[in-house]
Amino acid sequence: MSQLHAAITAVNGYVPDEVVTNFDLEKIVDTTDEWIRSRTGIIERRKLTGEGKGSSDMAVPAVEGLLEKRGISAKEIDLLICASVTPDYVFPATSNVICDKIGATNAWGYDLSAACSGFLFGLETGRRFIESGQYKKVVVVGVDKMSAILNYEDRNTCIIFGDGGGAVLLEPTTEEVGIMDSILKVDGSGREFLHQKAGGSVLPPSHETIDQRLHYVYQEGKTVFKFAVTNMAEVSYDIMQRNNLSSDDVDWLVPHQANKRIIDATANRMGVPSERVMLNIQRYGNTTSGTLPLCLWDYENQLKKGDNLILAAFGGGFTWGAIYIKWAYDPK
Ligand code: UT7
Repeated sequence: MSQLHAAITAVNGYVPDEVVTNFDLEKIVDTTDEWIRSRTGIIERRKLTGEGKGSSDMAVPAVEGLLEKRGISAKEIDLLICASVTPDYVFPATSNVICDKIGATNAWGYDLSAACSGFLFGLETGRRFIESGQYKKVVVVGVDKMSAILNYEDRNTCIIFGDGGGAVLLEPTTEEVGIMDSILKVDGSGREFLHQKAGGSVLPPSHETIDQRLHYVYQEGKTVFKFAVTNMAEVSYDIMQRNNLSSDDVDWLVPHQANKRIIDATANRMGVPSERVMLNIQRYGNTTSGTLPLCLWDYENQLKKGDNLILAAFGGGFTWGAIYIKWAYDPK
């Protein structure tokens, strides 16, 4: 019997309407459009506004659009995995909320927390469920409402992140397409450089944690930058080597959108020219778990069946990795 592969058969994204430009941020923190553009590549990002709106409010339209594109009903979903560091609640899982809101009554699901590598980790686990033969339709969501945990008085972090997310549908195929290989890593000793200090069981919410502003993203940018540049480039290079892919064989690098300089370093290490590197950081900033599905969504019309894609990410934790995908369908 030929081997079962997990193929992405549809992709969709969602970003909220409200645009926050670098010029808007100039008015609230000591920064400039020039600094943000030159150091990160970001020009604007999106923000989810409105009382009571959480990450699921972006995931739901993303998944509903995904199902519509594929022409299937929510009841056909077997499993929904949601990667996010800004879940609707500490519990229940946002995957539960999404399934309820879209009417995925035959699905089970869970959340996965791996910061900016969350979508990669979700893809890898979703892939294994499909390859088991027991699951036919697995949805992997990557979504974050970063504005919920940003301190808009901290110019080190508030300029980088944005809100948004996307989703893919995984289905089995016996063709030589789909998710072919993955290299995923964690190094918990890096956790102090990028994290949210309070709100978990170590430092539950209290007046003190609020007063000390410990519920926001904390990042030592320079240190994270150094680790990200090295590790994202190396893991992307390693997955090429392991699969005997030359630079010419890589049709697309799909990099996590944290900083244009990290993306360029990764592409250089792989020898992939900029016209084959997906880039939308200028419009959305860093949406954490959302960057990779948003890239696939933006570039979907340029992807052809058989194209070799390398997805790569680096994030808080630290977490990082790369996934090699043979794209499964031509533009519609
Ligand atoms: O997605 C998850 C993983 N995260 C990442 O991969 C992010 C990695 N880090 C980065 O992308 C970059 O480190 C940042 C974009 C966060 C910062 O860029 P940088 O080139 O590393 O700047 P820096 O932190 O070394 O700061 C350089 C200078 C400092 O001033 P002094 O000390 O040289 O006077 C900062 O205070 O720039 C200053 N600065 C700013 N100036 C204007 C920091 N943030 C800003 C700002 N506007 N927003």
